[in-house]
Amino acid sequence: MSSRTWSHLTETGSNSRMGKLLRCYWWPIAGVSELRQRRVMPVRLLSEDLVLFEQLDGTLGLLERQCPHRRADLSNGFVEQHGIRCAYHGWAFDSSGMCIEAPYEDQVRPGLCTGRIRCGAYQVREMGGIVWAYLGKDPTPQLPDWEFFHWENGFRQIVVSQVPCNWLQLQENSVDPVHFEWQHSNYVIRKKRMLQPAHHVATHVRLAFEEFQWGIVYKRLRSVTDRSDPLWATGRVCLWPCAVFPGNHVEFRVPVDDTNTLSVCWFFDRVPLECEPYQQLQIPTWRGPVFENGRCIDTHIINQDFMAVLGQGPIADRSRETLGASDAGIAMLRRRFDQDLSRFEADGTDPKGVIRDPAQNQRITLPVADRNLLLGSHRLCEMLENPYIRERLRGFIFQAGQPEEVRESFQCAMGLRDVNIADSGPVDLLDRRDGST
Ligand code: FES
Ligand SMILES: [Fe+2]
Repeated sequence: MSSRTWSHLTETGSNSRMGKLLRCYWWPIAGVSELRQRRVMPVRLLSEDLVLFEQLDGTLGLLERQCPHRRADLSNGFVEQHGIRCAYHGWAFDSSGMCIEAPYEDQVRPGLCTGRIRCGAYQVREMGGIVWAYLGKDPTPQLPDWEFFHWENGFRQIVVSQVPCNWLQLQENSVDPVHFEWQHSNYVIRKKRMLQPAHHVATHVRLAFEEFQWGIVYKRLRSVTDRSDPLWATGRVCLWPCAVFPGNHVEFRVPVDDTNTLSVCWFFDRVPLECEPYQQLQIPTWRGPVFENGRCIDTHIINQDFMAVLGQGPIADRSRETLGASDAGIAMLRRRFDQDLSRFEADGTDPKGVIRDPAQNQRITLPVADRNLLLGSHRLCEMLENPYIRERLRGFIFQAGQPEEVRESFQCAMGLRDVNIADSGPVDLLDRRDGST
């Protein structure tokens, strides 16, 4: 039954089939800049409660949340030079989980706790301004080194949100081209009370989905485009196992537990030629709200995605859905996870996207439609000619709640402080015809 309902693919716990498979991957769990600020953060990943910390010596640690003494919450603790200390009775643990101090016990029963008691510890690393965690077994796979983490001359920001539904429905959204026409375009147009069908954006007329080494590429033709359009010729990437990579940002959907997902989005905006060279000292991380007054925020692109997947329920009931031709990529994604699961259980074969060879893990390049438009060096006036880039420069279109200081840093980086970009009405965000490509 489970293969028809796909419910087994939604499980994240360490004893579940899919939970074991998901533990083969590295997961993004926080922004480095927010950890630097807070030093200690509670984290929940794959149904496990953890504490993430940065010791005073700069080492990162990720331990089980509950103190092995009497189960206090270590995320209420504080960091020391070489570890984290539980606030309750002062026991301290290093990043390997070993107890390095138990003050009263060390006085009266030296050697019984320190150096002997330990709590579970996991691996944690930094890449691209993001903190990554690995909860699986040895040997540890490579932490994927995607090309975008090496791009230069760009303003980067990280937005983190907690979305109360299963991660798989967010990831299925990563391979669903038609929703862009409706959820992100016609829905918005109607909300602006433009009620005539004539206001609708160009419709999709053909889709193609192709699996490749790092995920699935999806391609679209619309009534206004032909095969030379970059969104057909190159397409966009559903990145394995948990992300969508539309070209100059990436959205990771991280399983917190069976009914919660951490959305970790990483954005890159190339600065205008006039502002090069540009070096960003620290990538800001901010937390993006999902709800306002009890309702989903729907003013921004990724908030619209959250609204769509939250509407499917905490765990979408796939036994009651009706897949159409537009869902071929979703069927492909489910089959890949399912086949990987069978092979992994049969003989331990690594699932798709796990990298073992360090030589292969060097600035891995991915298909980028509009590579020149998004990543090339252009004068500000050229950038403003493209409706999509212009919208991105006018304000942060992806998620609600961007802090004022991040907006100011962005404007400063882009040379926009004294530039006023007028609102030219609803924009077809898939339209590349007037661009500088
Ligand atoms: S519960 Fe942590 S030191 Fe006592
Ligand atoms: Fe979307």
